[in-house]
Amino acid sequence: MTVRIAIAGAGLIGRRHAEAVSAANGVSLAAIVDPGDVGAEVAMRHSVPHLRSLTDLIETAPPDGVILATPNQVHVDNALECIAAGLPALIEKPLAVDIHGAERIVSAGDAAGIPLLTGHHRRHNPLIARAKAVISDGTLGRIAAVQASTWFYKPDDYFNVDWRRRKGAGPVYINLIHDIDLLRHFCGEVTTVHAMESKAIRDNEVEDTAVILLRFADGALATVNVSDTVVAPWSWELTARENPAYPATSENCYLIGGTHGALSLPNLSVWTNPDRRSWWEPISATKLIFDFEDPLIRQVRQFAAVIRGDEDPLVSAAEGLRNQQVIEAVKLSAATGQSVDLTTTHTAASKP
Ligand SMILES: NC(=O)c1ccc[n+]([C@@H]2O[C@H](COP(=O)([O-])OP(=O)(O)OC[C@H]3O[C@@H](n4cnc5c(N)ncnc54)[C@H](O)[C@@H]3O)[C@@H](O)[C@H]2O)c1
Repeated sequence: MTVRIAIAGAGLIGRRHAEAVSAANGVSLAAIVDPGDVGAEVAMRHSVPHLRSLTDLIETAPPDGVILATPNQVHVDNALECIAAGLPALIEKPLAVDIHGAERIVSAGDAAGIPLLTGHHRRHNPLIARAKAVISDGTLGRIAAVQASTWFYKPDDYFNVDWRRRKGAGPVYINLIHDIDLLRHFCGEVTTVHAMESKAIRDNEVEDTAVILLRFADGALATVNVSDTVVAPWSWELTARENPAYPATSENCYLIGGTHGALSLPNLSVWTNPDRRSWWEPISATKLIFDFEDPLIRQVRQFAAVIRGDEDPLVSAAEGLRNQQVIEAVKLSAATGQSVDLTTTHTAASKP
């Protein structure tokens, strides 16, 4: 069965979702929903109907599922409307502008039995599956420490769109949340967060830079450094070659260190001492290989499999909520100067 997916929000990422839906097998684009005229342009390009609201879509031509690529501030209303109409939804990250909103989405989906996914598309990258396998099979030994960098320069006109300057936007909410999703995927649950933020350069309502310390449940520690006002290549965006819009470099942005080896990503090199573990001994790298496929296309194919009832979400809304709890802890720690203990809040979001 071909699964008919509508896209709400014809902006930056909504247009990429439209391309991905068009390119994926077993899926067709049902409609574009956007109150603005950009929606009509995108709909015309894909020869599908344009509607100005989700209500119009649901009343006139309900699809099998909806991708919500709308501004963060309207995700809760959009998601609740989809759930009430019985429509599975893939909700772009962050799920909402605060934990309360994200929890409302997760509990409404659970109560109605409607599958909800979060748009952490990186987890659908075969590179990530390869990295996860090499961590899980023990090649690196026990993970002790991680360094992650999320550095890039967003051009000044990116901030001409009002919501990108306001609470619920900013690189911690918009970008770092993807890195947190991957770090949790690799290292397990985050138990403690300590962070500092700065808006000294751009002076928007939101931060332009943050540095973060994470402790994971099994004792591993991570340092994460994020800035959208640094001209540099050390971010997933500028290294992983997922989105052709970014000029790719061959640099790495994650270093994952274990007792028997270390992994650099995204170049997938595993560093080990071939003979005896020691800083006096030779150390060498093995580059792992994988077959690349656009994670957005894989994500939409997985969404279709979930809609058909064949698979569970790879990244559920509950997972999106957990990522958001870490992000909220970053914001809270930066605001108070205190460490935030997450072991108590995980219980609320512990559903798979
Ligand atoms: N997964 C990713 O890598 C990724 C990348 C970029 C953005 N995002 C997320 O995607 C979402 C959209 O970001 P963007 O940069 O594409 O935003 P954008 O501002 O470029 O586009 C948003 C679009 O949504 C439309 N819109 C507003 N309210 C709507 C509603 N109620 N119904 C339908 N359409 C509505 C707007 O008219 C606009 O065209 C955000 O949540 C953002 O965090 C995810």
